[in-house]
Amino acid sequence: MSATDSTAVRCTGIRKHFGEDEARVEVLRGVDYTVRRGELSFLVGPSGCGKTTLISVIAGLLATDAGQVHLFGRDLAGMPNDERILFRRTHLGFVFQQYNLLQALTAAENAAIPLLAAGVRRREAVDRATALLERLGLSGKTGSFPRQLSGGQQQRVALARALVHEPRLIICDEPTAALDHATGEAVMELLASAAVHPDRAVIVVTHDNRVFHFADVIAQMDDGRIVGVDPRRRSGPVPETVSPTPPSPLSA
Ligand SMILES: Nc1ncnc2c1ncn2[C@@H]1O[C@H](COP(=O)(O)OP(=O)(O)OP(=O)(O)O)[C@@H](O)[C@H]1O
Ligand SMILES: [Mg+2]
Repeated sequence: MSATDSTAVRCTGIRKHFGEDEARVEVLRGVDYTVRRGELSFLVGPSGCGKTTLISVIAGLLATDAGQVHLFGRDLAGMPNDERILFRRTHLGFVFQQYNLLQALTAAENAAIPLLAAGVRRREAVDRATALLERLGLSGKTGSFPRQLSGGQQQRVALARALVHEPRLIICDEPTAALDHATGEAVMELLASAAVHPDRAVIVVTHDNRVFHFADVIAQMDDGRIVGVDPRRRSGPVPETVSPTPPSPLSA
């Protein structure tokens, strides 16, 4: 695939099972899924249909049984191990459904991890992470440990960790699930602005129909397959269920 390819993510024929014998479940049953550069793609579908499994495959965190994943024209599975690790570290930001913060580190240290891994000096890494946390409404919490934070605050620390190194592909699993409406809108605005770049893309797994109006494309998943793709205009009408009042500033 050429470097000028307009796709950020191209999945073809992805298959993945868990368990063996009677416990065997076919979770991904031939997924074809494309995300173009500059796109904010929502991945939606019922609980258990395979969304988290698919994005884990895209991020190279899970091996597949069959099929191919190309990220920005590169086949991750075909790369030597050290090159794949470096590619993921540099170009990928991932927000886990369960946040996966390191309990022994503060919010700012957690958010700084990708910069530290890239060799940025500690002071600068923590300063940059702190500035991003402040943008996410966590000014008073940068020195707090995860156990001292609410679910919504931990979710934003996980988001800061995924964004801090300005990766080309950001993948978020339910990034607004623990957030109130105004904070969820602000988080989506940040993700939408990260996607508006000819060399980047954002995938958001969500059940949260309050934020659907941010999507460029909504890909519908069911029973281990993509069953529909709905292109949208990001600035389209706000669904009626969303309050017309302007969002208040983010609060911790
Ligand atoms: N490590 C695993 N071992 C066995 N089964 C698994 C494993 N991970 C996921 N599954 C199963 O695969 C199916 C898809 O799981 P997945 O987490 O991808 O769903 P999901 O669409 O993200 O659901 P949700 O919206 O509830 O987060 C489920 O039936 C789940 O039980
Ligand atoms: Mg999931």
